[in-house]
Amino acid sequence: MRAVVQDRYGGPDVLRLVTLPDPRPGPGEVLLRVHATSVNLSDWETLRGSPAYARLGGLRRPARSVLGSDVAGVVEALGEGVGSVSVGDEVFGDLLGTKGGFAELCVAPAARLAPKPPGLSFVEAAALPQSAAIALQGTRWAGAGTRVCVNGAGGGSGVLCLQLAARAGAHVTGVDTAAKLDLMRSLGADVVLDHTREDWTRQGPYDLVLDLVAHRSVLAYRRALAPGGRYRCVGGTTRALLRVLTVGGLLGRMTGRSLGVLAVREGPEHFLPVAARCAEGELEVRVDRTYPLEEVPAALERVGLGRSLGKVVVEVR
Ligand SMILES: NC(=O)c1ccc[n+]([C@@H]2O[C@H](COP(=O)([O-])OP(=O)(O)OC[C@H]3O[C@@H](n4cnc5c(N)ncnc54)[C@H](OP(=O)(O)O)[C@@H]3O)[C@@H](O)[C@H]2O)c1
Repeated sequence: MRAVVQDRYGGPDVLRLVTLPDPRPGPGEVLLRVHATSVNLSDWETLRGSPAYARLGGLRRPARSVLGSDVAGVVEALGEGVGSVSVGDEVFGDLLGTKGGFAELCVAPAARLAPKPPGLSFVEAAALPQSAAIALQGTRWAGAGTRVCVNGAGGGSGVLCLQLAARAGAHVTGVDTAAKLDLMRSLGADVVLDHTREDWTRQGPYDLVLDLVAHRSVLAYRRALAPGGRYRCVGGTTRALLRVLTVGGLLGRMTGRSLGVLAVREGPEHFLPVAARCAEGELEVRVDRTYPLEEVPAALERVGLGRSLGKVVVEVR
């Protein structure tokens, strides 16, 4: 099979398209014929080995040579003991722990896969798992009348976060770069802010802040919150995440707010509810563009350098 591999951390130039032996599924695993794999910021972070948390499991060299965790495809073979799916099933899932999606075939734990809703194409299905899980868990406190701010709302997860919060009846502020303001407005944001021109931490107060790109001080986050409000960061600099985990927790408790890191739980139950709503047309899957397998480096760069408007998807088949 053909696969795009990474032997060391670095830029897109360290990636090579090579031919590898077909993988074989072990117990509890399936062999998947990959049709589409979307690019997540986590792929870019693992390619570069930065922020530091991207090196968990592989301090000097990447623990896995083939990136790509949000996959959609067709089950080609079953490992021992798999009863939940059959050969020929169309499935999708998030393989953050094992990766391998930028290849023609990949091995996936059967428990991480769900049937692809017929209303979604392979490209749309591949765009969903990780970002849908983040959005579903991150917006669970958003309700009618709550004031919600999503920082990084024009990115892969952000566009789903703001749609879910808006559908829940919240008043939603979306923060991102100027090029994404129209996108955020079109997906339901009531207020949009260009982070290079306006400081969202001084525009609140908010009942819920969901931060996809944390890099500020905990004092700034505390300032943005209404009494009883919640700040949850999902991604960002290691320094900012550590500060939120330590000082942030304490500061929140002392001031009647809650500051913390959202540890996103993975698995079909965390992305299927959102996928079902996308298949019904209630939520939009915004695909920026697709690339063939040969152009995985360009696809990763588009996401890493912030040029995409919606999800970038590699169409393998
Ligand atoms: N906590 C967990 O358990 C968990 C699990 C999975 C993933 N994650 C993390 O969650 C994050 C998910 O991000 P994603 O996939 O949504 O990334 P993404 O698609 O790159 O979106 C991030 C968005 O934020 C924008 N942005 C960059 N700097 C900004 C700033 N200073 N202020 C406001 N907006 C800014 C980006 O704009 P430009 O593109 O124009 O720069 C982009 O639109 C990743 O960091 C990933 O590692 C966490």
